[in-house]
Amino acid sequence: MTTISISQFKDYEGQTVRVGAWIANKRSSGKIAFLQLRDGSGFAQAVVVKADVAEDLFALAKGVTQETSVWVTGTVKSDGGRTPLGFELEVTDMEVIAESVDYPITPKEHGTEFLMDNRHLWLRSRRQHAIMKVRNELIRATYEFYNQEGFVKIDPPIITSSAPEGTTELFETDYFGQPAYLSQTGQLYMEAAAMALGKVFSFGPTFRAEKSKTRRHLIEFWMIEPEMAFFDHDMSLDLQERYVSYIAKSALENCRNELELLGRDLSKLEKVQAPFPRVRYTNAIKFLKEEGFDDIEYGDDFGAPHETAIANAHDLPVFITHWPKEIKPFYMKVDPENPELVLCADLIAPEGYGEIIGGSQREDDYDRLKEEIIKEGLDETDAYDWYLELRKYGSVPHSGFGLGLERTVAWISGIEHIREAIPFPRLLNRIHP
Ligand code: 4AD
Repeated sequence: MTTISISQFKDYEGQTVRVGAWIANKRSSGKIAFLQLRDGSGFAQAVVVKADVAEDLFALAKGVTQETSVWVTGTVKSDGGRTPLGFELEVTDMEVIAESVDYPITPKEHGTEFLMDNRHLWLRSRRQHAIMKVRNELIRATYEFYNQEGFVKIDPPIITSSAPEGTTELFETDYFGQPAYLSQTGQLYMEAAAMALGKVFSFGPTFRAEKSKTRRHLIEFWMIEPEMAFFDHDMSLDLQERYVSYIAKSALENCRNELELLGRDLSKLEKVQAPFPRVRYTNAIKFLKEEGFDDIEYGDDFGAPHETAIANAHDLPVFITHWPKEIKPFYMKVDPENPELVLCADLIAPEGYGEIIGGSQREDDYDRLKEEIIKEGLDETDAYDWYLELRKYGSVPHSGFGLGLERTVAWISGIEHIREAIPFPRLLNRIHP
């Protein structure tokens, strides 16, 4: 007997196979039991017809409880296109592996806190399964894109001695008597790696002790951070828009069923193609004022309502470029045409999903960077000495950016809250499970 997974049904039409699965759901009449199977690879209906099977098999199928694990044997049949899978299993035999008693997540509605408390089980649901498949596809497409573009994957450290994104959001830890921090960006290390390997990207966990309780903030999230030597700001923006278009297209091609299950408006994703609009910060402020926002002034960062208003004026992700130097980190390169501004951009996703990318050209002048580090009150002699040295031995123009994976998953999937975009979210009030 061949053991296959549900995703392989299409290759086994008419054949008798065995599948290891859980019972996701069940309904039955006096004559037929319909079992909703899930095995991780997919969901499929199994049909047990009373007239065709032994009496005890039909009784087992009728009585089997939600999330019981089973070996099911049967014949793969077309379901006439009734489901996206296109096939179902006509059961000839079934054996219980382990029973499931009183599974807490039933097919009826549950509150968010209850579901979050049961995240270890909630992940099994159809919707969560679909979101994790989209997440996986975005990661897969990311590696594919950067490999095609000639990038090298580099893994920066997670325990660090520096805090490039500001010291207010740090998780401090004791490193054998010396303070150390969980990484809030791999950028500085990626800059060193770019000087060695040219074009590099990282993908890793990022920690921000932000006291923000919004639908866009996680305490622990995953960031993709490309860094490119011999790249100016405009070249970086060109790369960013090609990258985002590429992963959106990959999700549409390879996760169409999942996106449909999630109720995603696919026409919105189909529009996501480079080039993306580029709006200067000054013009964005002007636009917001014209839209009636009187809670924002030149020199302020945007809040969620501002980002949403900007996004709603476009069908595509929008770059906000050339921000005031004073509200951006010390490492950004000053605009040669205006020393008040830096060569940077945030990419705002459409439909109110907020900022998904932050990036910039990096300051490559030794003296200017040293001055910024000192001005910022950072320690140029210890934590940042090696970073400064990158400007001492053959400094080159270079740029990079960070894309937040979970915000991107939320946008592509069309889900309301970022907590569903990561398997086990760490939030202000939650570290369990
Ligand atoms: O704009 P950020 O802070 O940029 C950096 O950390 C740069 N050093 C990256 C670089 O240039 N290599 O963060 C980048 C992205 C944001 O656009 C957002 O998508 C995501 O990381 N992000 C968060 N996602 C979830 N929860 C949070 N608390 C986040 N903070 C940032």
